[in-house]
Amino acid sequence: MKTVLTKSPEEAARFIKLGGLTAFPTETVYGLGADIFNEKAIQKIFIAKGRPSDNPLIAHVGRLEDIEKLTKKITNSAQKFITAFFPGPLTLVLPKSASVPLIATAGLETIGVRMPKHALANKFLLACETPVVAPSANISGKPSPTIWEAVYEDLNGKIDCILQGEPTEVGLESTVVDCIGDVPLILRPGAVSIEQLRAVVPQTKIYTAESESPKSPGLKHRHYSPAARVILIDTLQTAISGELNAYMGLEPLPGQQFGCVKICSSVDEYAHALFTFFRECDQRGIKTIYCQTVTETGIGLALMDRLKRAAQR
Ligand code: TXA
Ligand code: MG
Repeated sequence: MKTVLTKSPEEAARFIKLGGLTAFPTETVYGLGADIFNEKAIQKIFIAKGRPSDNPLIAHVGRLEDIEKLTKKITNSAQKFITAFFPGPLTLVLPKSASVPLIATAGLETIGVRMPKHALANKFLLACETPVVAPSANISGKPSPTIWEAVYEDLNGKIDCILQGEPTEVGLESTVVDCIGDVPLILRPGAVSIEQLRAVVPQTKIYTAESESPKSPGLKHRHYSPAARVILIDTLQTAISGELNAYMGLEPLPGQQFGCVKICSSVDEYAHALFTFFRECDQRGIKTIYCQTVTETGIGLALMDRLKRAAQR
């Protein structure tokens, strides 16, 4: 299959209307989209990514009204989060409406919905004239793509189209919040922080696999990992220099030589650069990446979540 590269949201949307797959930018990471009402198209997403079929997809909308079509009920907490954070890097899990096919939700009676805050994504979604389901546009298990070139690296020849945008702003995936029960549960931390969510609904909790029954199937799968080994370091002295080693963090390591180095001036920049750095290290044949840990507040919680997952083997 030839993968068409385009900067035109209308051209990119044409492939969705024809039942194909288009990768598109959002403010978080690039997504791999299909028409939510086309089961055959959705099946192609799972095949192209090598995604386990028990991992549900997020529905992306260009207009708030579409959320009502996809869900049976917008709960009180969900309504508050929509008012405060939509459009934005936040996904709300709600009871799905009967029209949403089960292949989109991996058999669940719930659906994650999100409205990206991204001008090009918005134009694309409106041109599709349908909600679009989209996981991150990477091969399953690899770091999510934050530049269109990373989508190309993973999926060229396997999908119909890549809508070429700028590098994504946030660099980590959206915050996923289960809004079904009385207490909203953060299933995946992201750019909208727990502090921001609690300012709107104070009871909001972080879901922990140990304390509750499994909620988000995707969380059990391996995620965000480069081929290189990732080692998290609290004290800089534990990083070992070498041509096949890399270092990423907030503080420089004076006098050390690495094959790849990224010093970030803020936690936001660290989050923004993480996945691209992982891919760059793999391209250069790096074997071990040392990553400095950060404080788990604001986007630091999401960054530490991705770092811990990448370090898990
Ligand atoms: O920022 C993002 O969320 C990006 C962009 C493209 O929007 N998308 C993304 O999708 O990261 P994906 O499929 O890579 O991750 C979605 C996560 C998975 O962990 C999945 O299990 C969870 O959200 N999820 C989706 N629908 C769910 C549902 N109905 N119930 C519980 N978890 C759900
Ligand atoms: Mg993903």
